[in-house]
Amino acid sequence: MKQDFISRRDFLKNIGIVGASAVLAASPWLSTFSEVTLTGKEKCRLGVIGVGSRGQFHLGFLSKNPKVEVVALCDIYPPSIEEAHKIVPKAKLYGDYRKLLDNKDIDAVLVATPLNTHYKIVMDAFDAGKHVLCEKCIGYTIEECYNMYKRHKETGLIFFTGQQRLFDPRYIKAMELVHRGMFGEINAIRTFWNRNGDWRRPVPSPELEHLINWRLYRASSKGLMTELACHQLQIGSWALHKLPEKVMGHGAITFWKDGRDVYDNISCIYVFDNGVKMTFDSVISNKFYGLEEQIMGNLGTVEPEHGKYYFENTPPAPGFLQMVNEFENRLFGSLPFAGTSWAPETANENKGEYILGERPQSDGTSLLLEGFVEAVIARRQPARIAEEGYYASVLCLLGHQAIEEGRVLTFPDEYKIDYLNHHNHASIGI
Ligand SMILES: NC(=O)c1ccc[n+]([C@@H]2O[C@H](COP(=O)([O-])OP(=O)(O)OC[C@H]3O[C@@H](n4cnc5c(N)ncnc54)[C@H](O)[C@@H]3O)[C@@H](O)[C@H]2O)c1
Repeated sequence: MKQDFISRRDFLKNIGIVGASAVLAASPWLSTFSEVTLTGKEKCRLGVIGVGSRGQFHLGFLSKNPKVEVVALCDIYPPSIEEAHKIVPKAKLYGDYRKLLDNKDIDAVLVATPLNTHYKIVMDAFDAGKHVLCEKCIGYTIEECYNMYKRHKETGLIFFTGQQRLFDPRYIKAMELVHRGMFGEINAIRTFWNRNGDWRRPVPSPELEHLINWRLYRASSKGLMTELACHQLQIGSWALHKLPEKVMGHGAITFWKDGRDVYDNISCIYVFDNGVKMTFDSVISNKFYGLEEQIMGNLGTVEPEHGKYYFENTPPAPGFLQMVNEFENRLFGSLPFAGTSWAPETANENKGEYILGERPQSDGTSLLLEGFVEAVIARRQPARIAEEGYYASVLCLLGHQAIEEGRVLTFPDEYKIDYLNHHNHASIGI
């Protein structure tokens, strides 16, 4: 099959997954691809609920996957469904997701509606016996996320979340290197996502404002935390195999004072039991530093988004910075309180190395979908995928709550799930 996305074979080869227990140990959900040979010619019969921007993006991949039959689409906004229908002209169309769930020809649903609508749709889908892939953030509250996860466990139905980094070759390989100890002891994870734009979409008539710009209003979204941080905060548990214990944060509207009520300027600090920190930082009025998750060990740093890593012992600084260095050191070297600590750290010109030889074309989305399809056909939930998704959602919501309440919050015991058992360390050999 000719694909315009990275093929599964190339992907597996690229990250050296053939026989590589270390990769599977770091990312055990990739075992979903070992079902491939079992599932043969069977198809996953899918309904897509919410076919706006993300839903249509998914349909682009799904419509090319020979193991998928997109049986039905559902949306409450006619222009969305008209566009989506062009991608999968054979799909049945619904305006009410409950009718779609009644369709017995559907095995699984993909939910890509606004955040505040996920819960009801996903719970109803489980009740109707459908497997579910729900876009992130899965719930509008922590309790909703918990109930969704619980229902998945009770029903035994497959549950994936829209955390495509879990299938991104750069991240998978980076995590393998982190777990191998290549960067030493990880003491900090710095995540940031900056943009310069209002995040608005054009609205054909004023009564559609909240439907179309749902991201900008608290009634339907928790803004940068649920839309952006959700992806980045999962890096902590993936890298460190544990969850942060507490979080504190700040949020404000400082630039886009245009009627929105979600923050455009946010920082959160998450702290693990040993004092290791993970930060999230975002503004949408300056994009200079873009987006990254920097996993920082005493021997080196890895930046999965750039696909690069950097060791701490770097080549000498270029001439000019060395001169500044020497000047500062000579000037302050004789003073008892100064010494070489004045050497400016900005002198680091380390260009780093690529994690993977060739930059893969996939951000993980097509592989996430392929993994879900395989899991549905094989009726097998891959290890830890729902748990990573659950915690990513809970962490961003907890950060949001810390900002709102202006205090340090501890991770609530009642929302801890049996995460460690899903690591399967012993059985996969780390
Ligand atoms: N994983 C990612 O990288 C990623 C990227 C973008 C969006 N998303 C997620 O995807 C989801 C959708 O985002 P989007 O950008 O596509 O939004 P969107 O506004 O473009 O699309 C949402 C669609 O859902 C429809 N809808 C609203 N309520 C509905 C209901 N009750 N039943 C059926 N349809 C309904 C809307 O009419 C719209 O067509 C969000 O959860 C978002 O966080 C994830």
